[in-house]
Amino acid sequence: MRIANDQVAVVTGGASGIGYGLAEALAARGVRLVISDVREEGLAKAKASLTAAGADVTAEVADVGDEASVRALADRTLSVYGRVDLVCNNAGVASPAAPLWEQEARTWELLIRVKVLGVVHGVRAFAPLLVERGAGHFLNTASSGGLAPLPDRTPYTTTMHAVVGLTETLDAELKRVAPTLGATVLCPGLVDTPLGQNSEALGALRLPPGTPASMRSFAASRGGILSPREVAEAALDAIEADRVHVAPGGGVAERARARVEALLSDIATG
Ligand SMILES: NC(=O)c1ccc[n+]([C@@H]2O[C@H](COP(=O)([O-])OP(=O)(O)OC[C@H]3O[C@@H](n4cnc5c(N)ncnc54)[C@H](O)[C@@H]3O)[C@@H](O)[C@H]2O)c1
Repeated sequence: MRIANDQVAVVTGGASGIGYGLAEALAARGVRLVISDVREEGLAKAKASLTAAGADVTAEVADVGDEASVRALADRTLSVYGRVDLVCNNAGVASPAAPLWEQEARTWELLIRVKVLGVVHGVRAFAPLLVERGAGHFLNTASSGGLAPLPDRTPYTTTMHAVVGLTETLDAELKRVAPTLGATVLCPGLVDTPLGQNSEALGALRLPPGTPASMRSFAASRGGILSPREVAEAALDAIEADRVHVAPGGGVAERARARVEALLSDIATG
């Protein structure tokens, strides 16, 4: 999909991090925005700074884990702008660091609710609008953890793998309707956002005392770190090229290749 002036994009988890970076990058291309988040205060601040930078932006509090809330977001988008071109299902939380056998059931429930059902609710609420117009695109944020194993984060990696598979299938389903419809899954490596702090504020995890506020502290061990804006620009380029996957970040392609090669080798042996 070509991204053009006066289109309308919806960004969930738009108050912070990658979602905010997407909103900035889209606004720079003249796209009108509906940003949404479950954290009302953060959302108001994000709206104020995007507006100050000249963006046309509407803010709507919504919990992506709640189907009615996401349907209300779609209704608001239509009532304000009368159309939608791009839906970024991006909201998310991280999970605590522990092996699978120590991960609590409530962590699984929360991650599945926000990351998997959050995307499902976004697609169910907005896809009929895109299908009716015969054009439009979904950008679903997963992670490099959706392309390869990431020990001690199974609720996170499991749900991110689900978002990768969901998006690949969604793209095929949309393309069956019209070649001008599509979906892209964003699988970045480490990004400089307050994901840990926001996840703690939302009850998803407890950060160990002394945890640095910035993800930069993990950068050396994880192949460097990207800014949210860099990730957003890579995602928009992928949408314009109609690519189903985009995975910016140092070492991500290598980890994905190692997984695929191991998979193919195992299958060939069997
Ligand atoms: N930061 C990274 O290194 C990284 C890497 C790969 C993927 N991701 C993924 O990118 C996405 C965005 O994360 P981020 O790093 O920008 O973190 P972030 O905390 O800066 O942004 C996530 C936003 O989602 C919102 N959110 C959480 N639960 C919600 C819900 N139920 N309904 C609506 N909004 C909700 C949060 O309030 C927050 O504003 C997440 O899905 C995350 O898993 C992050």
